Amino acid sequence: MFLGVDVGTGGTRAVLVDRAGRVAASCASEHAPIRSEHIGWAEQEPEDWWRAAREAIAGAMAASGLAGAEIEAVGLTGQMHGCVMLDADGKVLRPALIWCDQRTQPECDWLTEKIGFERLIELTCNPALPNFTLTKLLWVREHQPEIFSRIAHVLCPKDYVRYRMTGEFAIDMQEASGTLLLDVTHRRWSSEVAEAAGIPMAWLPRLFEGPEICARVSDVGATATGLAAGTPVAAGAGDQGAGAVGMGILAPGSVSATIGTSGVVFAATDTPAKDRLGRLHTFCHGAPGRWHVMGVTNGAGLSLRYFRDTFSPGESYEELVAMAAEAPAGSAGLMWAPYLFGERTPHLDPKARAAFVGITASHTRAHFVRAVLEGVAFSLRDTLTLFAELGVPVKTIRLGGGGARGPLWRQIQADVYGHPVELLEAEEGGAFGAALLAGTGIGAWASVEEACAATIRVKATIAPEHAAAMNSAYEEYRRIYPALKAISRS
Ligand code: XUL
Repeated sequence: MFLGVDVGTGGTRAVLVDRAGRVAASCASEHAPIRSEHIGWAEQEPEDWWRAAREAIAGAMAASGLAGAEIEAVGLTGQMHGCVMLDADGKVLRPALIWCDQRTQPECDWLTEKIGFERLIELTCNPALPNFTLTKLLWVREHQPEIFSRIAHVLCPKDYVRYRMTGEFAIDMQEASGTLLLDVTHRRWSSEVAEAAGIPMAWLPRLFEGPEICARVSDVGATATGLAAGTPVAAGAGDQGAGAVGMGILAPGSVSATIGTSGVVFAATDTPAKDRLGRLHTFCHGAPGRWHVMGVTNGAGLSLRYFRDTFSPGESYEELVAMAAEAPAGSAGLMWAPYLFGERTPHLDPKARAAFVGITASHTRAHFVRAVLEGVAFSLRDTLTLFAELGVPVKTIRLGGGGARGPLWRQIQADVYGHPVELLEAEEGGAFGAALLAGTGIGAWASVEEACAATIRVKATIAPEHAAAMNSAYEEYRRIYPALKAISRS
């Protein structure tokens, strides 16, 4: 039995997975709300992740009735990019700046100026974005030099949980790609970026491939979690990397479209597929010898939640989506641009704003809800458009997250992508993928590919029904962002 632990943003989830890919038990524990002292700031307490991890692990073990010694290996995953700063005694120096913190644009500009936009992409495959860890460290140097001067170790969120569980400072290649300090092409820290940024290499954790066993549960970790001391811990991967492993997105041509709060279109590649303009993230994969590209829509599931909370409070998502099914494909010309939190892919514009476009007196609430679902799918298609531009192949598209759960959003995705979409038997998110990495690490499977082949099954394939109509609607959709930018008031 393998344990996957996902240190997410809202909470931590622990999942026990057997060799057939069956989930024996799972348990989640919520985190304290994100602290946001100023607009655009987002911080969390690392200690709270460790508390939630302990609770989730203990809960999953209790639900399964298994003893600690029956867990063969642990794999970790979690929210990416967060910056945890520790002193020489391993004490947390300040709350972590997490992935959605947007305060570091000035530091991004400084770094881009210092290294050069093209050179930075050459070295790390990515541009400087406020989401990435390094820019958060630079902010602390600029604004809290007394804290910066005491830093001895820098970790990402799940790697802090690993540190508490094992006493080791370690990170996997996929997660490290999101720090902006990794030479993604050669799978090693980039001394050139670290030097130019003024970050000592000694602060960085040791690098491992996703399935590698990089640590063992310590006596302290065992007492805290109920796991047995000495249990092997695999490096794991960030939530997107482990989620892709859990959906079997490994070989070039396999793509996933996951709609959670944000939306991610993820493609596996055999070499790093760099975008010269930095509109996609190009990272090492959680599987050794592989890479991936992904595009992120900030306000995907968030669009539906926002619409529900603002215009239909008290209504369930099921009721809303049932209503949307009454409106025709294309929502009779009504369109939604989902830029509620600015946008990452393809616009890289934190100031982008959302809009409904084309409202007439004939539109009903059903059209509005359908337009929201379609608008989110259009914004995910923008990433597929970039894949085509960069020559990233798309053979199969697997759906994940809330966007995979109801028949309407699934059909809308098939129609908007103009491509059949696959539904998996069990879609368990990153914790499941982390458990597969752990199992691979101790040799239960010979490779991540074999782990996926043994555990992941396709349940259904949904063919497009309105591809031509949605293709012309997409062409219209693409004209919205430039028009909105031209009338932006902020
Ligand atoms: C990936 C990203 C999110 C976070 C939070 O680039 O920002 O997926 O990992 O889930």
